This record gives sequence, C-alpha cells and structure tokens, in this order.
Amino acid sequence: MSLTDSIPNNVDLADDRKLLRALEKWQPNFLEWWRDMGPEGFQQDRIWLRTAISVDAKGWAHYDYVKMPDYRWGIFLTPRAGERTIGFGDEADRDVWQDVPGEFRGSLRRIIVTQADTEPASVEQQRLLGKTAPSLYDMRNLFQVNVEEGRHLWAMVHLLHQYFGRDGREEAEALLERRSGNADKPRILSTFNEPCEDWLSFFCFTMFTDRDGKYQLSALSESGFDPLARATQFMLTEEAFHLYVGEYSIDRVVRRSAEATRKDPNGDARAQGAIDLPTIQKWINFWVSSAVELFGGEISSNAADYFAAGLKGRHQERKKYTDHRAIDAIYTMEVLEDGGLSRQEIPLRNAMNEVLRDEYLADSARGLERWNRTLAQHDIAFRFELPHRRFNRTMGMYAAHRFDPRGALISEAQWEAGKSEWLPTPEDRAFVQSLMVPCLEPGQYAGWIAPPEKGIRGLGVDYEYVKFDGN
Ligand SMILES: [Fe+2]
Ligand SMILES: [Fe+2]
Repeated sequence: MSLTDSIPNNVDLADDRKLLRALEKWQPNFLEWWRDMGPEGFQQDRIWLRTAISVDAKGWAHYDYVKMPDYRWGIFLTPRAGERTIGFGDEADRDVWQDVPGEFRGSLRRIIVTQADTEPASVEQQRLLGKTAPSLYDMRNLFQVNVEEGRHLWAMVHLLHQYFGRDGREEAEALLERRSGNADKPRILSTFNEPCEDWLSFFCFTMFTDRDGKYQLSALSESGFDPLARATQFMLTEEAFHLYVGEYSIDRVVRRSAEATRKDPNGDARAQGAIDLPTIQKWINFWVSSAVELFGGEISSNAADYFAAGLKGRHQERKKYTDHRAIDAIYTMEVLEDGGLSRQEIPLRNAMNEVLRDEYLADSARGLERWNRTLAQHDIAFRFELPHRRFNRTMGMYAAHRFDPRGALISEAQWEAGKSEWLPTPEDRAFVQSLMVPCLEPGQYAGWIAPPEKGIRGLGVDYEYVKFDGN
C-alpha cells in the first residue's frame, strides 16, 4: 500500500492500469457529488478525522486534521489467511470465486449496487446536520461517519469497476446520480429516503439503520465471491464506530433526560430543555420500524437463492452454525391466516431474511437494556421497549395489517387512536427541532445531551475537534 498513490489501496491498483484509469475517471465525479451533496457548510474547515491507511488489525487508522474534500478515500480488502472455501449453500466447501461466476452475475450486481446505494444516501440524509451540532465533538463524529460512508461507496464501486465491466461502470455513475428523497431519482431503499433532520434522528439512524448495515455486511462477508467478502469485512471495522456513535450518544441523551426529569418539580424533562423519555421512545419506534424493513420479505425466494448460491450467508455463518447447507431445516414464524396470527413452519432457506432480522433485533434490544440501566441508575421507573417487528410496517407480510408496538393485531381505529402515542407527531418533531441549536465552542454541549465521559482517542471532551478556518 502506498499513500502517495492517487487512491490509497491494497489491491495493487498501480499494476492494473485499466482499473486505475477507470477509478481515476470516476474520482472527480465522486468529488463533485461530495461537494454538492456532502456536509453542507463545512467543506473548508479542518476536522479531526480518522483515515483508513492499511488493513492491519492494530494501526489501520491515522488521525489528523483534514478538510473533508481532501479526505483520502481508499480501497482496502481484508487479507485472508490461506486458501478459502465457500462456507455455505449448495457450493459449500468448493473454492471461493476470485471472479464473478457467470450464472450469478445479475444477483451479485444487484447485491453490490443495493449495498453501495445506502452509503451515499446516508451522507445525503445527514448533510444539513452540521449546522445544528450540539458540540464540536458530535460534529466531528457526524463527519467521521460521513467520510467513512463515502469510503464504503468507494469499496463497492471498486468491485463494480473491477468485476462488472461496462455494466459496473454505468452502475457506478448511477450511484452518484440518485438522490435521497428525490421523487424522480430516489435512493433504492425507502429508509434511505427518509429525512434525517435532527440529531436524535441521526443518533437513531446510526444506532438502528447502520446496525442493519452491520448485519448485511456481516452476511456478505461470508460470501463465496471472495473480493466482496473481503471488502465488506473491512467495512465492518469502520462500521463499529458508527454503531458506537448511535448507542453511546443516545445514552447521553437518556442521561440528560433522566437528570432533567428528576430535577423538574413536575417531572417534566421538556420544561428543563431536555427531550422527555416518551419522545425518545417514539423516535426509537420510528427508526426501528423503518430499519427492520431493510431485511426484506419474511418468506423470500431471493434470500433462499442467495444462500443456495453461496452469495449471502448468515451472520457469523462459519462461527455460529454447523449445518451450512440448511436443506432440511425449518424456521417457525408467525404468519397471518384467517384474520389472525398462527405459527407456520417455513423451509429455513426461505426464512434467511428473518434469521438475520432476529440477530438484528436481539442486538438492538441489548442497546435498549444499556439505556434502561442508565435510567435505573437515576432511579427513573420508565423503561424503553423495542418495538415488535410487526409494528408500523409498509413492506412484507405484516404490512397489510395494523399491529401495536408489542406486535398485537389491532384494528384501524385502534391504530388511529394509538399512533400519536407511538410515533413522532408534528408537535414532537417541532419540539425536538427547537432544541437543535449549534454549540460550537470547544467544551460546550447543548443542554439536551450530556457531554461524553471522554473524547476521541485520549483527547479531552473540550478538544477543538473542528477548526473553523473556512468561515
Ligand atoms: Fe457504510
Ligand atoms: Fe455506517
């Protein structure tokens, strides 16, 4: 890996002139997209950022002040120790593919493009948040997430350019043309067209939507298409920080909310300038119910095909499972029948989306337990609850009916009566928006969020994480 390369990489770009030229042609278009659709207003400021410079388990990251358009977006694949074989499906135990098998070309392209599209989409969704950052520390975290989503786009575009010929080049261009929330050219998945207009939404996004990303990447890191497996494996190392930002920042919001609830004579956190706990629960309900859709249909022939072909496995397929073919296995799920829910046995391969969704929900529930411990420490009786997977769905087999946050089947009238208790109302959004005032002095934090216990990598919470040279 050479840092003097125009594109930092460990894929021997310098020796592949054709690929290098193709990527160098795409690079200015990416930068143009970044300037247009990346964080608005802070492009000339210096941000204390982490940059991936190698794939070493220790030392893969370098920290320094960087202007975002100068960020060195690189291409890194996690190296594999020795030969690898396909870990699951009909092709299990055969050698992994270093090239795209012709019969799976269409499926792999769709998988890669769908993953790739989420990366620039999230940057677009978050592009105005810098203006209302609750601190320099939080602003820096936002921009760190943004530049790394940009690198994830690079990781996927590299695969498209290297392995998919002209189709791949066209897809790479289209990734810079779609726009989050645009009616004519929307991003592919609906969650990535949702506006993300306040910082509580940003933290819920990194907690719950990036966590979908973690499980998708994890399933792809098992892929028999080795370059995809290795690219996604390295993306996961960066993704861990995004999830940390979500989980830990919400904990800080909860802490401040708990303190305000105790301090106020009427237990009214809003009166103390904090976000009350029921409002936080509504944000959780909204973002979880949006993110669970990303796992796809409950019973899915696509999921079965991807598993059979060895393209997309389960989370920790090799580590956690022994039956990697899953031919006779079944999965029991609740389906709608005769106006009610009943249990049905589904061939496991057709339930792979549900298997991944199970992992996701269990991991999300662990996050809520952490916030509930924070509430207990403050002697607050309120407890957060993870909404049921059936709640507020617009896709999949539960979308045709209404369910309450605990998953009980309810009537349309019950839904109408309950929804303002369960999901953000325009008034809730206006209230949360009213708290979004920028705090841009080092060490200053907005009143609705507790300062972190420590800063980035041994630096203080009052460190100047952003230097405003540009204004
Ligand atoms: Fe990402
Ligand atoms: Fe992410």
